[in-house]
Amino acid sequence: MNPLHPTLSDPGSTLQTAAALRDTLGRPLRDLRISVTDRCNFRCVYCMPKEVFGNDYQFLERKALLSFEEIVRLARVFKALGVEKIRLTGGEPLVRRKIEQLVAMLAALGLDLTLTTNGSLLAKKAQALKDAGLKRVTVSLDSLDDAVFMRMNDVDFPVTRVLEGIAAAAAAGLAPVKINMVVKRGMNEHSILPMARYFRQSGHILRFIEYMDVGSTNGWRMDDVVTAREIVDTISAAMPLEPADPNYSGEVAARWRYQDGSGEIGVIASVTQAFCRDCTRARISTEGQLYTCLFATSGHDLRDLLRSGASDRDLLDSISAVWSKRADRYSEIRTGHTAKLEKIEMSYIGG
Ligand code: GTP
Ligand code: 5AD
Ligand code: SF4
Ligand code: SF4
Repeated sequence: MNPLHPTLSDPGSTLQTAAALRDTLGRPLRDLRISVTDRCNFRCVYCMPKEVFGNDYQFLERKALLSFEEIVRLARVFKALGVEKIRLTGGEPLVRRKIEQLVAMLAALGLDLTLTTNGSLLAKKAQALKDAGLKRVTVSLDSLDDAVFMRMNDVDFPVTRVLEGIAAAAAAGLAPVKINMVVKRGMNEHSILPMARYFRQSGHILRFIEYMDVGSTNGWRMDDVVTAREIVDTISAAMPLEPADPNYSGEVAARWRYQDGSGEIGVIASVTQAFCRDCTRARISTEGQLYTCLFATSGHDLRDLLRSGASDRDLLDSISAVWSKRADRYSEIRTGHTAKLEKIEMSYIGG
């Protein structure tokens, strides 16, 4: 028996395990992002372009998906390895049937439990998610202008329905609600200021995300990236900003607050200011592949282990072996060449 990995039922030793597990760059494992479906009802141009994800696209079959029981079993093992936060993603997590049930099962683990959604089904589901034990949500919204938003989601989905979802989430107490806006040049850079103005005193936290070269279907070019610097300068010229300290070590978004005290924004600059040094995130795909980087080209099959009778200890040992060998720092070493690699799609690996 590996002395660093005693049984899961031994909480004292488990703490020792959590403290000890580090990757080759000294990073602990703290966040687990679980993709619960590879499907989505949107076709955002930067994520699931219609030319690739068309009517004949083959999504995963039902039996390929991890069951809720399998997901929860893995989550318990990850918790024993030091995970403190679980984020459900997709695709669009709210299209997975009975997602509230999974939320309730995961909530029993007592971790920070959150979810990233496009907001389309949130008005209907916010209260049930809250009742099931979800703590908060992050909603993607790329513009307040219907024409721009529809061009980006590519399914003619209107802004108002996402705003209704955000309002329902806040009313249900899924707070603070964070709003993610991906900025792509030529598409929505003119929406930066209106979005900042709209959300400034809303109590929600708006975050701008640099357009990234995830996957290999979105045709990413550096020229399409509106940099964090440009975003902050654009907003600051109208409503002066000052930098704010991170809420916690390894926070993905750099925080900026309005100098007049009217709120804050976040900027996620994965392209121009890589944050790999503090990256504590692992991802599990819908079919149970473990990925140690958003830009991975291959994963580690946990579903096979789960379905071939592995014990919790076996799972724990396998995951720690993967994490101890981890050396990922894609955003720090990105080049024109790496951008063209066959990477796993974000809708599959989870956002
Ligand atoms: P909280 O602080 O818990 O609210 O979460 P977060 O800041 O991690 O936010 P969220 O999970 O919503 O991440 C926001 C976005 O940042 C994601 O949707 C991705 O676009 C990007 N992102 C998150 N994690 C990574 C990462 O590990 N690498 C890169 N390159 N981008 C990431
Ligand atoms: N670049 C940056 N962000 C992206 N997202 C999806 N694809 C990309 C991309 N290519 C964002 C979504 C959502 C989150 C899951 O990731 O808008 O907010
Ligand atoms: Fe769907 Fe989110 Fe991808 Fe848009 S970014 S296509 S909403 S998974
Ligand atoms: Fe982490 Fe990979 Fe993103 Fe760097 S590029 S922050 S290693 S997920």
